[in-house]
Amino acid sequence: MTNVVDPMATTPPKHHNLANEALAEARAEFVERNPKSLAAHQYAAKYLPGGNTRTSIFASPFPLAIQRAWDARVVDLDGHEYVDALGEYTAGLLGHSNETVMEAVRGALDDGISFGGTNAYEARFAEIIVNRYPSIERVRFTNSGTEANLMAIVAARRATGKSTVLVFDGAYHGGVLNFPFGQPADENVPFHFVRAPYNDMDGTRALLEEHRDTLAAVILEPMLGAGGGIVAETSFLQMLRDFTESAGAALIFDEIQTSRLAPNGIQGEVNVIPDITTIGKYHAGGMSFGAFGGKASIMEAFNPNNAAHMSHAGTFNNNTLTMRAGIAAMSKVVTEEAIHALNAKGNRLRARLTDAIRKHDVDAAVTGRGSIMTVHFGSKTVATAADAAHGDSTMRELFYLHMLQQGVWIARRGMMAMSIPVSEQDLDVIVSTADSFFAEWGKAGAQPARA
Ligand SMILES: Cc1ncc(COP(=O)(O)O)c(C=O)c1O
Repeated sequence: MTNVVDPMATTPPKHHNLANEALAEARAEFVERNPKSLAAHQYAAKYLPGGNTRTSIFASPFPLAIQRAWDARVVDLDGHEYVDALGEYTAGLLGHSNETVMEAVRGALDDGISFGGTNAYEARFAEIIVNRYPSIERVRFTNSGTEANLMAIVAARRATGKSTVLVFDGAYHGGVLNFPFGQPADENVPFHFVRAPYNDMDGTRALLEEHRDTLAAVILEPMLGAGGGIVAETSFLQMLRDFTESAGAALIFDEIQTSRLAPNGIQGEVNVIPDITTIGKYHAGGMSFGAFGGKASIMEAFNPNNAAHMSHAGTFNNNTLTMRAGIAAMSKVVTEEAIHALNAKGNRLRARLTDAIRKHDVDAAVTGRGSIMTVHFGSKTVATAADAAHGDSTMRELFYLHMLQQGVWIARRGMMAMSIPVSEQDLDVIVSTADSFFAEWGKAGAQPARA
């Protein structure tokens, strides 16, 4: 029997009577307000373990069941409408009903699906991806980011003939590549992983030296996503680049979230070019997607013309819904201008939330970069993966329930990701809703008894 470790695992709540009482009240209100979601959860629990088939969206007492969505709006089964500040954990960059994507998907459906053959779209989508990311000379498609990272590691092992993979504590690379800070994860694939401290030059260098001779790859997110929005220092990325080059190991950037933070990904922004890159999430406009790509010499291992090639099969790797949606999304919607505008919007929101936190003197902080951010509680500074992991989970859940109650859809872990259709008025709603929470719980607030 394996233990499933929630990638968004919480730390034990601090003893804070008022917060605990408020949380009990907020949960009771949540139950009262959402009878249809509760019924949906009870029905689901008969057939799915815990009523759940995607651990990251599990929430107790039960998650809201979403009925429909458009632009930057979602509506739950009980008919409550929310401003979508979650953006499907970064995959919903285009919103829920982008007409260009919808048209592409309709076009794909009209031509029939599941051809069982090569089609006219995969090469065009590949061209767009290769032109976008400096490290990608050849690419292969998968159906998820998890698969993309698995294949990237497999490619690195083949290219180097070695097997150790250096990962970072607090990293998340997929369902079976999960490294929650300070915790084991029994569900992980049995590669030989060594965990290093993110952004810690000396600690990481020592481990790199120790494993130099067996090191196949270093894989990292240029900003820890599920790990709390901790941005990698450019000097840290450069150190990893220099070391892997000198040790004959592959550097893998998991840009599944961070690719959206600059037109050519973080690699293009900071000019540290990995050997292999993985992408996923929003690239196919909301259809299932993942891809791994890199140096042609490394990707050649998957060329079926070579006798010694490795197989990378996958029934839906080139499915036309994903391919056509992806071509439309990445060539027409997710342009350089759109990326700049989206990240500027995120920066404005982060600054306004940070101001509100300061104004009300709350022990909280907002991490992240551009359009992706996480609100943390329990400390005014969150600089490391350890800081992010050791937040106040009671306050975090209270904040989550407050935002939902007031009509703003965010992740339970305090994460938000802006999407293209989020308007300035939506930003005002997000800020004022968060502000009312900070006012209630801040030391400078209207109810100091709660501070
Ligand atoms: C950085 C990162 N890598 C990999 C994954 C896994 O992608 P998928 O959920 O498509 O398997 C995620 C998903 O949250 C992610 O954020």
